[in-house]
Amino acid sequence: MPELERKFTIRANDFINAGEVSLEIQSILKHIGFDSALVRRVSVCAYESEMNVVMHGGDGEALLKVSPKSVALVFRDQGPGIADIALAFKPGYSTANLEHREMGFGAGMGLPNIKKSADSVEVNSEKGQGTILTIGFKLGDSDD
Ligand SMILES: Nc1ncnc2c1ncn2[C@@H]1O[C@H](COP(=O)(O)OP(=O)(O)O)[C@@H](O)[C@H]1O
Ligand SMILES: [Mg+2]
Repeated sequence: MPELERKFTIRANDFINAGEVSLEIQSILKHIGFDSALVRRVSVCAYESEMNVVMHGGDGEALLKVSPKSVALVFRDQGPGIADIALAFKPGYSTANLEHREMGFGAGMGLPNIKKSADSVEVNSEKGQGTILTIGFKLGDSDD
């Protein structure tokens, strides 16, 4: 049973509100009292994932689950999916369009940074289907 579970809505191409969900996740974790290193790691993953849903995905949602042993983030969207997941994780690979690049996005480092910052990352996606990104962080010295 998670101690805390929160769900957030994310809208495709909503660059006005983009980033709000990850800020709220950051604020919840700070409020719980997690150390700043963990809060930073989760926030980086939340921000990159949220921006990916806004830019590349479709309408979707984020889920934050805090349990005694772990923090988990789940991002689901109803977008076009990812055809080649290994390629998507390659540093520098990006399908960002000109409009995204003009806003400063499209470095192709989001997924690599998520992988580096988290303890576990799982992607479930197929072209034409949505995408589910599950990111895990261990708490304390738990092995599971
Ligand atoms: N939710 C998603 N839906 C569809 N494609 C995605 C999604 N997230 C990531 N991708 C694909 O993976 C690529 C790499 O993502 P990322 O490393 O965050 O770089 P960037 O966002 O700068 O393009 C994206 O350009 C896109 O093609
Ligand atoms: Mg990205």
